[in-house]
Amino acid sequence: MTWLVTGGAGYIGSHVARALMDDGHAVVVLDDLSSGRRGFVPSGAVLEEGTLLDTAFLAEVFGRYDLAGVIHLAGFKYAGVSVEWPLHTYFQNVSGTANLLAAMEAASVRSIVFSSSAAVYGNAAAEFVTEGTPTTPESPYGESKLIGEWLIADQARATGLRHTSLRYFNVVGSGSLEVLDTSPHNLFPLVFRALREGSIPKVFGTTYPTPDGSCVRDYVHVSDVAAAHVAAARRLQEGAELEAVYNLGSGSGVSVREIMAEMAAATGIPFSPQVCPARPGDPARIVASGELARRDIGWEPRYSLREMISSAWAAAEADAAATL
Ligand SMILES: NC(=O)c1ccc[n+]([C@@H]2O[C@H](COP(=O)([O-])OP(=O)(O)OC[C@H]3O[C@@H](n4cnc5c(N)ncnc54)[C@H](O)[C@@H]3O)[C@@H](O)[C@H]2O)c1
Repeated sequence: MTWLVTGGAGYIGSHVARALMDDGHAVVVLDDLSSGRRGFVPSGAVLEEGTLLDTAFLAEVFGRYDLAGVIHLAGFKYAGVSVEWPLHTYFQNVSGTANLLAAMEAASVRSIVFSSSAAVYGNAAAEFVTEGTPTTPESPYGESKLIGEWLIADQARATGLRHTSLRYFNVVGSGSLEVLDTSPHNLFPLVFRALREGSIPKVFGTTYPTPDGSCVRDYVHVSDVAAAHVAAARRLQEGAELEAVYNLGSGSGVSVREIMAEMAAATGIPFSPQVCPARPGDPARIVASGELARRDIGWEPRYSLREMISSAWAAAEADAAATL
């Protein structure tokens, strides 16, 4: 069976592509390399280089392969930047998804797993965010992910498309030394860069109503996230009825201060973070309930926080050494 992985040259998509191949599937990656890297595409997968905004390219790709389904991860993921670039965000994430669905319909490809985000919940007040927690996205990015979910659900109602959307919480770690989170905005890459450059990592806000005053988040290893896609894809292929959305979170919250203490231990570089003012719009705590994914796709996060940190640090060190 061949699966198309959009965004398969990106951080999470390349882990998904590897996990699919390990599970015995053939993989075609569709990626415009806007934030991904050619070198992240696993050997054995085919790379179709181009954008979801090019409908002729999409028709060509769908004409070339007999696809069992699509795992759709391509998108613009910088929530903060999306506030400055709403149209760019909507073109990439909403128009791109609509084009993909049209190409799937034309080629009679009938299964899709979509990469959504905890950003759809905005500043949810719930102690544990469930799939039923109201969606109140706080950025064009979060809105674009919610619209992506709606587009897919509407297309499913109209055409019988089999689908599910996975709302990831904070995805970290690396499954291999060759692939890493390259985001210039995420906590892990920011702290690691600071440590390499000899500057002090920053913690934004220490007076939140949390046990140590810093923000609490729910971290999941990228290999666990990848495994959830493979499990969901399999269930869709088997004809199982899945929910429209699933949270992918561990159900346990970790504060930024706790993460930094673990980072100091895992890297062997002692540091005390520099305290900076809280950033507007950062919720105090956002932690998922992952019960539904456990029930329906048998998903259980396997990696510890220490493994998330040490694997991410090892991949960041390998990347820094390779670019010297
Ligand atoms: N990293 C996280 O913590 C996180 C959390 C929630 C959701 N997500 C979502 O997961 C997906 C993957 O995230 P990531 O962290 O791997 O990001 P990433 O930037 O590494 O990967 C995105 C990939 O999509 C490609 N791409 C972007 N626009 C494209 C287009 N129009 N056509 C073709 N390819 C395009 C990029 O080149 C890149 O390879 C994204 O949709 C993101 O919104 C990520």
